[in-house]
This record gives sequence, structure tokens and C-alpha cells, in this order.
Amino acid sequence: MNILIIGSGGREHALAHKIVQSPKCERLFVAPGNAGTAAIAKNVALGVSDFEGIKSLVLQEKIELVVVGPEAPLVDGIYDFFKADEALKSVAVVGPSQEAAQLEGSKDYAKRFMQRHNIPTAAYQSFTSETLEAGKQFLETLNAPYVLKADGLAAGKGVLILEDINQAKQELENMLANQKFGAASSTVVIEEFLDGIELSVFVLTDGKDYKILPNAKDYKRIGEGDKGLNTGGMGAVSPVPFADSAFLEKVEQQIVIPTVNGLKEENLTYRGFIFIGLIKVGDDPKVIEYNVRMGDPETEVVIPRIESDLVDLLLATDTQTLGSTAFSVNPQAATTVMLVSGGYPEAYEKGKTISGIENVEDAIVFHAGTAEKEGQVVTNGGRVIAVTALADDYKEALKKSYQNAAKLHFDTMYYRTDIGFDLS
Ligand code: AMP
Ligand code: GLY
Repeated sequence: MNILIIGSGGREHALAHKIVQSPKCERLFVAPGNAGTAAIAKNVALGVSDFEGIKSLVLQEKIELVVVGPEAPLVDGIYDFFKADEALKSVAVVGPSQEAAQLEGSKDYAKRFMQRHNIPTAAYQSFTSETLEAGKQFLETLNAPYVLKADGLAAGKGVLILEDINQAKQELENMLANQKFGAASSTVVIEEFLDGIELSVFVLTDGKDYKILPNAKDYKRIGEGDKGLNTGGMGAVSPVPFADSAFLEKVEQQIVIPTVNGLKEENLTYRGFIFIGLIKVGDDPKVIEYNVRMGDPETEVVIPRIESDLVDLLLATDTQTLGSTAFSVNPQAATTVMLVSGGYPEAYEKGKTISGIENVEDAIVFHAGTAEKEGQVVTNGGRVIAVTALADDYKEALKKSYQNAAKLHFDTMYYRTDIGFDLS
């Protein structure tokens, strides 16, 4: 069958790399894709939320499966757009309905969902500009540090963690009264600070059954030792060494099952990936966020560990036959190291020639922000390339990721040399 992946990052290249290995995949399209996806699929220059353009492509190319990478089209309702259209409704779309996508699109919605289903998470209250004073009073009842979250999508920037109570009150006012994050911060969630170590668990669900995919830990800060500005993610490791079986059993019983059952009980249509951001507090998991998609760069370590046919699994979400679909995971560890443009996550230049890709051995180069220009691969984003390797343990895998990262070059290239530093 013909398949379409929507998106253009390392996540989409990793999905494409796996999907083309399926005997079920005839032609693969990626919209808009990057230089990496262009080598294994057909890129189509469409915006990820250009639903009419996507519709034309799907009809013209007889596409039967659509895999949505980023959150924006999901929150914008691409699933419902397909299901409401006579010509498109038989196409399998991997993702949640627009309503269920609010689990990522609104922090307040996600918190209320967790509360209704007794899913462990930080205590919280939500405030709007009308209740700004009550919000300040609520801050007085908490201990530092103070966690303020813009309710809506804010490109990963909407969470502030502040040590000082007066600064926290000021930022609350900036968000609510002065629209610091635009409409995204017209509601703010104030949350109890959770002290622990973060990891992510990924689930594929058909709304009835689920498969727990490999877990992963990403490294979000730009600087070594987890210092400096937040990025989309600078590297990842799977599996997470400190997530032992007793802990993962708690995650399944206390979080995954209540989440899938909660979707079912509330008639929220969901046929796709759930990315559960967790903090391990002592021995217990608590949810810090849901995302309604895979993570990037987590996908670059999660998907390479899946041994089963991914197309079978994705199609089973549409037919609600996930429970009887084969699923096995490679016990090896996978690591990825992200090569980024100098200056990222602030201003950076594009169009730098990337060299050395042909020298990579025993690792996979997933393109993130790349493009083709006059026969060359050039940088086209902040996060440029993820170098993924597999080995019997994460230290060996990291060694291979780093040996190969060192073979690649572009002007201003930077990467963290300490991915996994906190794991041993
Ligand atoms: P979120 O967008 O909700 O994942 O938050 C972004 C980041 O802020 C997370 O990855 C955590 O590092 C941190 N964070 C969010 N909520 C909390 C919390 N309640 N306690 C401690 N850290 C948090
Ligand atoms: N790496 C974090 C994310 O994809 O949201």
C-alpha cells in the first residue's frame, strides 16, 4: 500500500526508515520531509497543517495509511478532517481525534483527565486573568521552586520553574495579564514541583488495547551537565537503565491502563501514539505531561528497537486489532546524539554543507533539519542530524554514536558529549 508520513524531522526520518522495510509498503511519501527522507521516499512540499493539500495528495496517490509526526496537525484536527470526509474516511490515520489531542494541546485538560482517572501527577490548580489574585495566593501556599505552565501549545517554552516567590507572582501576571505566551497562557496551571529523574514511556493504542513501546530518556538542555537553554532534545537513550521491571509494572498499572481505559470510558477516539512524560519520584512514577505523538529524538532510539513490522502495528490501530498483532522488541540498547547548528536554540544559520555521511559505519544517520541543494546535503534547521547506534549496553552504543558523530562535519556543528552522563 501507499503510505504518507507528515513532518520533516529526525522523528519522521526514523519512522520512514522503519516503514520502508515493511513488505506492505509500496510507495512512501513524506510531507514535507528532509534530505534523509528524500533518499528513501518521495518528499512532497506541503505544510503539515495544509489539510486540503494533504487530501489532494492522498486521493491522487491512493494513500491508505497516514502517520502524523508532529502535534500541530493533530491538535488542529487532522484525524477528524479525514473521518468527516466521504473520500478520505477509509484511510487509516495514526493519531488521536481533535478532542483527545487536547491531552497535549491543553495542560489543564490533561490534568483534569488525570484527576478523573486517578493517574498520579503533581498537585495543581488552574488560573485565568480573572483569578490572577487567587493564583498569587495559591503560590503562597506552595514551597519553592514554583512551576508555572501555559495551558496551550507554546513550542516547548511554556513551562517556567522559579525559585523566588515574587518572581513567580510576576511571571504569573505576565502570562495571564500580559499574554507572555499569547493565547497559550490565557490559562496557567500552577503545579507542585516534583523532585526526581525524568523518563518517557511510549504507548501505541487502538483505543481498546495497547502496546508499550521501548522507553527512553532524552536530554533537553543545550549544555553539558543539563545546563543552559531548553531545546527539542539533544540526545536519547533507550531503554532507561533505572526503569526496572518493578517500576515499569507501576507505570503500566497506575498510568498506562488507566489512561487507555479513561479514553475508552470517555469515548475519546484515539488510534495512535501516546508519549507519557514521567518523573520518577522515589520509586514511584508521576505524569508530567502527555504528548499525542512520538518524541524527537526519542523516536530515533525507540523505533530502531522495534523488531515487528511497524506497518502491521499502525494498521492494527485503525482496525482495532492491536491485541492480536505481533510485537517484539530488540533487547539491545539504542542511543542517539543530535548534531545541531551553532547558536541553536537561539538564532542560527542554515545552508551549511554537511560532509562525512558516507563514512558512517555501524550507526544510522537520521536527518532532522537537512535539505538538498545543488546535489549536496545542507543544514536546514537547528537540530540537523541524529546519529543512532545499537549495542549490548548503552555505554557501547554511545561509543558508536560518538565515533560516528565525529566523522560528520558542517560549519558551526555542535553536540553534547555527555549524553547518558546521569545514568551510571
Ligand atoms: P512539560 O512541558 O510539562 O513537560 O514541562 C517541561 C519540563 O519542565 C519537563 O520536562 C520537566 O523538566 C519540567 N517540569 C514540568 N513539570 C514539572 C514539575 N511538576 N516538577 C518538576 N519539574 C517539572
Ligand atoms: N523530545 C521531546 C519531545 O519530542 O517533545
